[in-house]
Amino acid sequence: MTVLTVNGFTIHKGRIGPEGQEAMVKAIRAVAGAAPLFSPLTPWGRPMRVKMTSAGRYGWYSDRRGYRYIDRHPSGAPWPSIPEPVLAEWRALVPGTRLPDCCLVNFYGRDARMGLHRDADERDFSFPVVSISLGDAATFRMGGPSRADPTRSVMLESGDVVVMAGAARLAYHGIDRIRFGSSRLLTEGGRINLTLRVVD
Ligand code: SIN
Ligand code: FE2
Repeated sequence: MTVLTVNGFTIHKGRIGPEGQEAMVKAIRAVAGAAPLFSPLTPWGRPMRVKMTSAGRYGWYSDRRGYRYIDRHPSGAPWPSIPEPVLAEWRALVPGTRLPDCCLVNFYGRDARMGLHRDADERDFSFPVVSISLGDAATFRMGGPSRADPTRSVMLESGDVVVMAGAARLAYHGIDRIRFGSSRLLTEGGRINLTLRVVD
Protein backbone atom coordinates (compact mmCIF):
# COMPACT_ATOMS: atom_id res chain seq x y z
CA MET A 1 0.00 0.00 0.00
CA THR A 2 1.27 3.49 -0.83
CA VAL A 3 -0.09 6.84 0.23
CA LEU A 4 0.05 9.78 -2.17
CA THR A 5 -0.81 13.39 -1.48
CA VAL A 6 -2.00 15.33 -4.51
CA ASN A 7 -3.34 18.88 -4.13
CA GLY A 8 -4.12 18.06 -0.49
CA PHE A 9 -6.07 14.91 -1.35
CA THR A 10 -4.72 11.82 0.44
CA ILE A 11 -4.84 8.75 -1.78
CA HIS A 12 -4.39 5.35 -0.15
CA LYS A 13 -3.48 3.16 -3.14
CA GLY A 14 -4.35 -0.50 -2.77
CA ARG A 15 -5.85 0.04 0.68
CA ILE A 16 -8.57 -2.65 0.41
CA GLY A 17 -7.46 -6.13 -0.69
CA PRO A 18 -9.38 -8.45 -3.03
CA GLU A 19 -11.37 -10.15 -0.26
CA GLY A 20 -12.32 -6.86 1.34
CA GLN A 21 -13.43 -5.57 -2.06
CA GLU A 22 -15.62 -8.65 -2.63
CA ALA A 23 -17.21 -8.21 0.79
CA MET A 24 -17.88 -4.56 0.12
CA VAL A 25 -19.47 -5.25 -3.27
CA LYS A 26 -21.72 -7.84 -1.67
CA ALA A 27 -22.79 -5.34 0.98
CA ILE A 28 -23.41 -2.66 -1.66
CA ARG A 29 -25.51 -5.07 -3.74
CA ALA A 30 -27.70 -5.50 -0.67
CA VAL A 31 -27.98 -1.71 -0.31
CA ALA A 32 -28.98 -1.37 -3.98
CA GLY A 33 -31.49 -4.21 -3.52
CA ALA A 34 -33.27 -2.27 -0.78
CA ALA A 35 -32.72 1.19 -2.27
CA PRO A 36 -32.43 0.78 -6.08
CA LEU A 37 -30.00 2.86 -8.14
CA PHE A 38 -31.60 5.81 -9.97
CA SER A 39 -30.39 8.63 -12.23
CA PRO A 40 -30.84 11.97 -10.47
CA LEU A 41 -31.70 14.99 -12.62
CA THR A 42 -29.31 17.89 -12.68
CA PRO A 43 -30.78 21.24 -11.62
CA TRP A 44 -30.88 21.89 -15.40
CA GLY A 45 -33.21 18.90 -15.85
CA ARG A 46 -30.85 16.40 -17.50
CA PRO A 47 -30.42 12.89 -16.09
CA MET A 48 -26.95 12.36 -14.62
CA ARG A 49 -24.82 9.70 -16.29
CA VAL A 50 -23.84 8.23 -12.95
CA LYS A 51 -26.52 6.15 -11.22
CA MET A 52 -26.86 6.66 -7.50
CA THR A 53 -28.33 5.44 -4.28
CA SER A 54 -27.39 5.92 -0.63
CA ALA A 55 -27.12 4.26 2.74
CA GLY A 56 -27.32 5.96 6.12
CA ARG A 57 -29.60 8.52 7.71
CA TYR A 58 -29.44 10.69 4.61
CA GLY A 59 -29.14 10.15 0.90
CA TRP A 60 -27.80 12.65 -1.58
CA TYR A 61 -30.33 13.77 -4.17
CA SER A 62 -30.70 16.17 -7.06
CA ASP A 63 -33.51 17.39 -9.27
CA ARG A 64 -34.68 20.71 -10.71
CA ARG A 65 -34.89 22.09 -7.19
CA GLY A 66 -31.16 21.55 -6.74
CA TYR A 67 -28.72 19.42 -4.76
CA ARG A 68 -29.68 18.29 -1.27
CA TYR A 69 -29.92 15.43 1.19
CA ILE A 70 -33.21 13.59 1.67
CA ASP A 71 -34.09 11.20 4.46
CA ARG A 72 -35.80 8.57 2.27
CA HIS A 73 -35.19 6.90 -1.06
CA PRO A 74 -37.37 8.47 -3.80
CA SER A 75 -39.61 5.36 -3.53
CA GLY A 76 -40.41 6.38 0.06
CA ALA A 77 -38.39 3.52 1.57
CA PRO A 78 -35.92 4.37 4.32
CA TRP A 79 -32.25 4.30 3.31
CA PRO A 80 -30.54 1.08 4.41
CA SER A 81 -27.85 1.41 7.04
CA ILE A 82 -24.22 1.94 6.09
CA PRO A 83 -22.53 -1.48 5.79
CA GLU A 84 -20.06 -2.29 8.56
CA PRO A 85 -17.02 -2.92 6.28
CA VAL A 86 -17.54 0.57 4.84
CA LEU A 87 -17.72 2.16 8.30
CA ALA A 88 -14.55 0.27 9.20
CA GLU A 89 -12.64 2.25 6.54
CA TRP A 90 -13.86 5.51 8.05
CA ARG A 91 -12.84 4.41 11.54
CA ALA A 92 -9.41 3.38 10.32
CA LEU A 93 -8.63 6.43 8.18
CA VAL A 94 -10.22 9.25 10.20
CA PRO A 95 -10.14 7.82 13.73
CA GLY A 96 -12.08 9.63 16.41
CA THR A 97 -14.26 11.42 13.85
CA ARG A 98 -18.04 11.31 14.28
CA LEU A 99 -19.42 8.50 12.10
CA PRO A 100 -20.76 9.48 8.67
CA ASP A 101 -24.50 9.72 8.19
CA CYS A 102 -24.45 9.26 4.43
CA CYS A 103 -22.76 6.74 2.19
CA LEU A 104 -23.46 7.89 -1.34
CA VAL A 105 -23.18 5.01 -3.83
CA ASN A 106 -22.19 6.09 -7.34
CA PHE A 107 -22.30 3.57 -10.17
CA TYR A 108 -20.38 4.38 -13.35
CA GLY A 109 -21.28 2.42 -16.47
CA ARG A 110 -19.22 2.48 -19.67
CA ASP A 111 -19.76 6.12 -20.60
CA ALA A 112 -20.33 7.67 -17.21
CA ARG A 113 -18.21 10.48 -15.87
CA MET A 114 -18.61 13.16 -13.25
CA GLY A 115 -17.89 16.79 -13.98
CA LEU A 116 -15.73 18.95 -11.73
CA HIS A 117 -17.64 19.82 -8.57
CA ARG A 118 -17.21 20.39 -4.85
CA ASP A 119 -18.93 18.40 -2.11
CA ALA A 120 -20.62 21.39 -0.52
CA ASP A 121 -24.11 20.29 0.54
CA GLU A 122 -23.06 19.34 4.08
CA ARG A 123 -23.41 21.59 7.13
CA ASP A 124 -19.89 21.41 8.55
CA PHE A 125 -16.89 21.21 6.24
CA SER A 126 -14.51 20.48 9.10
CA PHE A 127 -15.57 16.83 8.76
CA PRO A 128 -13.62 14.89 6.12
CA VAL A 129 -15.05 13.01 3.14
CA VAL A 130 -13.81 9.45 2.57
CA SER A 131 -14.19 7.98 -0.90
CA ILE A 132 -13.77 4.29 -1.82
CA SER A 133 -13.24 2.99 -5.38
CA LEU A 134 -14.35 -0.49 -6.49
CA GLY A 135 -14.28 -2.11 -9.92
CA ASP A 136 -12.98 -0.46 -13.07
CA ALA A 137 -10.20 2.11 -12.88
CA ALA A 138 -11.01 5.78 -13.43
CA THR A 139 -9.18 9.05 -13.96
CA PHE A 140 -9.75 11.23 -10.91
CA ARG A 141 -9.10 14.95 -11.44
CA MET A 142 -8.24 17.13 -8.46
CA GLY A 143 -8.16 20.91 -8.42
CA GLY A 144 -8.31 23.62 -5.80
CA PRO A 145 -10.91 25.82 -4.13
CA SER A 146 -11.91 27.57 -7.33
CA ARG A 147 -13.07 25.94 -10.51
CA ALA A 148 -10.33 27.63 -12.53
CA ASP A 149 -7.46 26.31 -10.37
CA PRO A 150 -5.00 23.99 -12.12
CA THR A 151 -5.78 20.28 -11.76
CA ARG A 152 -3.81 17.09 -11.46
CA SER A 153 -5.09 13.60 -12.17
CA VAL A 154 -4.44 10.13 -10.84
CA MET A 155 -5.84 6.77 -11.82
CA LEU A 156 -8.04 5.39 -9.06
CA GLU A 157 -8.16 1.60 -9.00
CA SER A 158 -10.29 -0.92 -7.16
CA GLY A 159 -9.48 -0.83 -3.46
CA ASP A 160 -8.07 2.71 -3.45
CA VAL A 161 -9.44 5.09 -0.81
CA VAL A 162 -9.26 8.89 -0.97
CA VAL A 163 -9.56 11.21 2.03
CA MET A 164 -10.62 14.80 1.35
CA ALA A 165 -9.85 16.85 4.42
CA GLY A 166 -8.43 20.25 5.26
CA ALA A 167 -7.83 22.31 2.13
CA ALA A 168 -8.96 19.45 -0.10
CA ARG A 169 -12.34 19.19 1.62
CA LEU A 170 -13.77 21.95 -0.54
CA ALA A 171 -11.55 21.44 -3.56
CA TYR A 172 -12.97 20.78 -7.01
CA HIS A 173 -12.75 17.18 -8.22
CA GLY A 174 -14.31 14.90 -10.81
CA ILE A 175 -14.03 11.71 -12.82
CA ASP A 176 -13.02 12.18 -16.45
CA ARG A 177 -13.56 8.65 -17.69
CA ILE A 178 -13.47 5.09 -16.57
CA ARG A 179 -11.45 2.29 -18.13
CA PHE A 180 -14.40 0.07 -18.77
CA GLY A 181 -13.58 -3.61 -18.29
CA SER A 182 -10.20 -2.99 -16.60
CA SER A 183 -11.28 -4.81 -13.43
CA ARG A 184 -13.07 -8.13 -13.00
CA LEU A 185 -14.55 -7.28 -9.63
CA LEU A 186 -17.98 -6.43 -11.06
CA THR A 187 -19.19 -9.16 -13.41
CA GLU A 188 -20.89 -6.71 -15.76
CA GLY A 189 -18.05 -4.20 -15.61
CA GLY A 190 -18.27 -0.62 -14.38
CA ARG A 191 -17.15 1.22 -11.32
CA ILE A 192 -18.62 1.82 -7.87
CA ASN A 193 -17.57 4.80 -5.78
CA LEU A 194 -18.69 5.13 -2.18
CA THR A 195 -18.50 8.56 -0.58
CA LEU A 196 -18.89 8.86 3.17
CA ARG A 197 -19.98 12.21 4.59
CA VAL A 198 -21.16 13.77 7.83
CA VAL A 199 -24.23 15.68 6.71
CA ASP A 200 -25.85 17.68 9.51
C1 SIN B 1 -17.66 12.14 -6.21
O1 SIN B 1 -16.92 13.08 -6.19
O2 SIN B 1 -18.80 12.22 -5.71
C2 SIN B 1 -17.25 10.82 -6.80
C3 SIN B 1 -15.79 10.68 -6.97
C4 SIN B 1 -15.45 9.33 -7.52
O3 SIN B 1 -16.28 8.73 -8.21
O4 SIN B 1 -14.33 8.85 -7.29
FE1 FE2 C 1 -17.55 14.70 -4.99
